[in-house]
Amino acid sequence: MIVIACSNGKVIGKKLAKHLKAGYSELFKELFPDGEVHLRFECHLREKTVILVQSLSPRPNEMLVELIFAIETAKELGASKVIVVAPYLCYARQDKRFHFGEVVSNRIVGKLLEVAGADEFYTVAAHLHRVDDISKLLTSIKGANVAIPEEMAAWVKKKFGANVVIVGPDVESHRVGRKVAELVGVKYDTFLKKRISGSRIKHTAIANVDARGKHAVIIDDIVSTGGTMLGAAKHLKKMGAKSVSALVVHLMTEAGGKKLLQGGFKFVACSNSIPSKYSVLDASKALAKAIKLNA
Ligand code: R5P
Repeated sequence: MIVIACSNGKVIGKKLAKHLKAGYSELFKELFPDGEVHLRFECHLREKTVILVQSLSPRPNEMLVELIFAIETAKELGASKVIVVAPYLCYARQDKRFHFGEVVSNRIVGKLLEVAGADEFYTVAAHLHRVDDISKLLTSIKGANVAIPEEMAAWVKKKFGANVVIVGPDVESHRVGRKVAELVGVKYDTFLKKRISGSRIKHTAIANVDARGKHAVIIDDIVSTGGTMLGAAKHLKKMGAKSVSALVVHLMTEAGGKKLLQGGFKFVACSNSIPSKYSVLDASKALAKAIKLNA
């Protein structure tokens, strides 16, 4: 078994190889002057189980093309099995035709991975709001959508002990936050969110959490512009929270983290699914566990 990190998979790839006691190599990549990618495997793949690791953000289009090329080529070079690990799965948010004529990208990405020849697929906290399971996106291959509640709960306990309330900024975020609150042993509820435009968000207050004098941690799958978090934080402050922090699986940009800190957040923490200076949670152990379970 060998783990091969594509250009955006090195952080988790190295850790995954250790957890799985597998070899490790990196896919050579350079860009041609016109922007096309030139890729090369630097080790033999014949009859090996190859684990390709590639986070599909930032630069999702480039990263996706690199991954699709790598899957197909690993098969051509004789890999007996190709396992794909994409700690962040891009294009999952467009899971419905919200407006006439729109592309529904989540299923297309699933199809591309299957057609390229992936035998198994693993990701972390995929944005599955209107699709209840990753198997609906990847119909012919097995895999898992891994969660990291233990890692998130450990962070909350370390930072705040028990003087904390955990909330979700919208109803769908309960998939990430509820289990964390259970592990920390505190009450949990979510706001109701209405997105007025790409960056304008309206929250309605929640009834079931008493934030007075407590540290509030808002847990979500993604921070992109930061609008969702900032909107929820405004309410929590009004509700008497001592401080507000953001804990997410995927922080799309460092600018998003900076915006939250400038907006008064005490801490911003995320996983290494998209590595940044805010990545304090490691998703590799959970991914390795899921891969071993399917072996
Ligand atoms: C939406 O449903 C997601 O779970 C996140 O709440 C959203 O993507 C965050 O985006 P932003 O930071 O731009 O508000």
